[in-house]
Amino acid sequence: MSTPPVFDAAFAAQFTELLRWRRDVRRFRRDPVPDELIEGLIAQTQLSPSVGHSQPWRWMAVDDPRQREAVQASFSRCNAEALSAYEGERAALYARLKLEGLREAPVQFAVFCDHGTDRGHGLGRQTMPEMLDYSVVAAITQFWLAARVAGLGVGWVSILEPAEICAALEAPPAWKLIAYLCIGWAEDECDTPELIREGWDTA
Ligand SMILES: Cc1cc2nc3c(=O)[nH]c(=O)nc-3n(C[C@H](O)[C@H](O)[C@H](O)COP(=O)(O)O)c2cc1C
Repeated sequence: MSTPPVFDAAFAAQFTELLRWRRDVRRFRRDPVPDELIEGLIAQTQLSPSVGHSQPWRWMAVDDPRQREAVQASFSRCNAEALSAYEGERAALYARLKLEGLREAPVQFAVFCDHGTDRGHGLGRQTMPEMLDYSVVAAITQFWLAARVAGLGVGWVSILEPAEICAALEAPPAWKLIAYLCIGWAEDECDTPELIREGWDTA
């Protein structure tokens, strides 16, 4: 057994800063990100909690330009539909928002939940099967924080049609799309969410 660490007050203060400065990033510099850095983040994410220790997350790197184009096309269509659901001032404001970094982000991942996994032997999800999906969300949150510690920004894009993304990425039928992540160096850093700065939401 190893000795548990003691997280001192300085670390606790820094951890609070990390939570304050973890932002959803949509504006990325195009500079490349070293593969080893991403591999290290995925390894850290492997430490995330999961129902029954099922570890159902599946990370698929999206590098192929044709696949990225398919994701951009899905976003454009879904975003236009989303815009049409708003009216007046709210529609004008929505139209001004930047809600993805799909063209700029050097690293992109589709994150799936493997509904076909036997790991965990069903523990904890017999009455609440959605716990498998929630485990993937928990892992993504951990990845987001680990990325910010490494100085990287992450943007979660959900304005997509999952069936289109799964088809474009040829995901196995048992995999459910949980998130599409844009990752890279942020153009600028801020401790206030962009949707608050843009007036979409009030603090
Ligand atoms: C499940 C989930 C889906 C999201 N989808 C989008 C999205 O499609 N586009 C976007 O711009 N932001 C998206 N976000 C980011 C949120 O808008 C953002 O987290 C929120 O405005 C608070 O800002 P912050 O992350 O900088 O604190 C998503 C966040 C979560 C957790």
